[in-house]
Amino acid sequence: MTTPNTTILIVEDEAKMRRLLELNLGDDGFKTLSAEDAEKGLQLLQSSTVDLVITDLKLPGMSGLDFLQAVKRFQAALPVVVMTAFGTVETAVEAMKAGASDYVLKPFSLDEMRMVVHKELDVRRLREENRSLREALQRRYQHPNVVARSAKMQEVLATVERVAPTNSTVLLGGESGVGKDLVARAIHEKSRRASGPFIKINSAAIPESLLESELFGYEKGAFTGATTSKPGKFELADKGTLFLDEIGDVPPAIQVKLLRVLQEREFERLGATRTIKVDVRLVAASNRDLRAALEEGTFREDLYYRLNVVPIDIPPLREHKEDIPDLVNLFLSRLADESARKITRISPEALNILMNHHWPGNVRELQNIIERASALATGPVLEATDIHIDSQRSRPADSSSSFLPEGMTLEQWEDEMIREALRRANGNKSQAARMLGLSRNALRYRLSKIGIADEPEKEMES
Ligand SMILES: Nc1ncnc2c1ncn2[C@@H]1O[C@H](COP(=O)(O)OP(=O)(O)OP(=O)(O)O)[C@@H](O)[C@H]1O
Ligand SMILES: [Mg+2]
Repeated sequence: MTTPNTTILIVEDEAKMRRLLELNLGDDGFKTLSAEDAEKGLQLLQSSTVDLVITDLKLPGMSGLDFLQAVKRFQAALPVVVMTAFGTVETAVEAMKAGASDYVLKPFSLDEMRMVVHKELDVRRLREENRSLREALQRRYQHPNVVARSAKMQEVLATVERVAPTNSTVLLGGESGVGKDLVARAIHEKSRRASGPFIKINSAAIPESLLESELFGYEKGAFTGATTSKPGKFELADKGTLFLDEIGDVPPAIQVKLLRVLQEREFERLGATRTIKVDVRLVAASNRDLRAALEEGTFREDLYYRLNVVPIDIPPLREHKEDIPDLVNLFLSRLADESARKITRISPEALNILMNHHWPGNVRELQNIIERASALATGPVLEATDIHIDSQRSRPADSSSSFLPEGMTLEQWEDEMIREALRRANGNKSQAARMLGLSRNALRYRLSKIGIADEPEKEMES
């Protein structure tokens, strides 16, 4: 039943109990790792492979329940058995709700603990077998720069993989900051054109009068100021990929010209008679609803169908929050590479705040918040107090369509207000409670619901 090297992490502050568990589990052929508090436990979890965790619920510093939640967030499938004192069944129940696999009430017999451990490891093995079976049937897609743990982002990467080797035009859709640029590059990198150029042009950032010459180039004397000849983006992208960002902003006169290039793969520079042929793969993106633009008549239908050969819609971050922990780690490791200071991880409370935000600015907003937070952080861990979410930006862009910020539920809005009150009160809970018209107990309850730990020291000061 016990496979060699099955490792059990024991988190228990009482030295005697820890030693007893180590010895007994060791006798059963398990490898054990021990920690006297949750912080140390988390470190061990990150530095070694662990198959099961046994933790006391009453620990100095971070509570066993918070520890459990942190473990579950990092490794959802890892079984955690909690130990709790007789007479505190409520906490055991709370732990089960938070994802504990089972609990034992103290004092317990070592046989009882052994039985629970073996049972949990068996369940885990079965689950793993199931998963590897499933994975054998359904592969996962990966790209070094794209976090895609969630099913929704997996779908995006699956399409990227399928379309990249072809020459098909791709139309990327999605709100601002969802990763359209990133996916456009991923398509290029996975294509046979990867060694060729990747050229980007943003139609919204270039004045209409310049857009045409930027796209197609010009000959000397084509217009006042054209003192030399210049190739356009289409020429520069030859044998590579041209990324047309904000395609919805291309004015009608240029839409016609784009249509021609898409159909015939040829064009002339401004002021030239010579026709230029290019071998370019086109990826277009729009964060506006192009269909609406079609109906309004501001975007040509024929061009739309030429562009929309393979549509890829990138979901807003609030629809794939499972990717937040990986995104945070990616951004932290990039920041660590850039600066001398190393922030190695994020506290569970801080991560909780990020998991509960509704992200109107999507991944870009998350990236900005992590950058700001790590500039403020003083230690190697990003704490909840380092996270500053700009609530101004979270307000609805268009208050006529909904009175809650886009994509936010009433509950999320309430959480946001509670955090805002805490920020304004500089963490003083009594003051925050007054601002919210809540009793301190009511605030404490809500804070525990959104995963902000109760720090008694601060309460004492007030
Ligand atoms: N899945 C992801 N994995 C890793 N990084 C991501 C992911 N999605 C977005 N990013 C990062 O978030 C930032 C914003 O993404 P990007 O610029 O591609 O968004 P966009 O959709 O093009 O936004 P806009 O519509 O404003 O142009 C970039 O730094 C990008 O690298
Ligand atoms: Mg972009």
